[in-house]
Amino acid sequence: MTLPGAPRINPSILSADFVNMQRDLARIATADFAHVDVMDNHFVPNLTFGPQMVERVQATSPIPLDVHLMITEPDRWAPGYAEIGAASVTFHLEAASDPVALARRLRDIGARAGIAIKPGTAGESLYEILDEFDQVLVMTVEPGFGGQGFMAETMPKLRALVSEARRRDVNTWFQVDGGISDATISQAAEAGADTFVAGSAVYGADSVEAAIAGLRDRARAASLES
Ligand code: DX5
Ligand code: ZN
Repeated sequence: MTLPGAPRINPSILSADFVNMQRDLARIATADFAHVDVMDNHFVPNLTFGPQMVERVQATSPIPLDVHLMITEPDRWAPGYAEIGAASVTFHLEAASDPVALARRLRDIGARAGIAIKPGTAGESLYEILDEFDQVLVMTVEPGFGGQGFMAETMPKLRALVSEARRRDVNTWFQVDGGISDATISQAAEAGADTFVAGSAVYGADSVEAAIAGLRDRARAASLES
């Protein structure tokens, strides 16, 4: 699989119409990955899709899947999403009992391994294990719901993680998720993010395709400037 280059725009299907999923997946064909928010009503106070739904999304999506697991016990459940064929599987540091072993298992199955941290979780906890991951997700809202406001206070943590990865010569992607829009994407790109999840800003737009292109242009311009 040839993976797309940065900046990557990953629309979140949490903002899609769940009974018109095939149509709403087709609408994001010009994006890089379809971001799939799996929530279990334990790790976060919301419930979305499980493996069977994600398997159908995988079979239907014109672009690869970027699965974001907001669940307890990812050590038990995450490999199943890699086995379905998700290009990328991201689990939360706060929920994993052995994040390094789980990342290795995901990579062995053939997925990109991602680690996510909530706004209140320090970035330093990832410094020593950065090379075990293909993607670090710095949450820019409290996980659980689409349509929340971007938390700019997470940007110093992102910046520090990006410079730590450069210092260690680790080629991890840096993803932001939550409140990403035309008004906020430049801040995240300047802080070093290269992969941007956007739910309401994409599916809430009059033209989904124009929204994706607009976000990509802004991110590109901001990362060139920084
Ligand atoms: C929130 C999810 C996000 C959500 C983003 O917990 O992880 O992926 O869909 O939605 P927006 O872009 O609307 O903030
Ligand atoms: Zn997400």
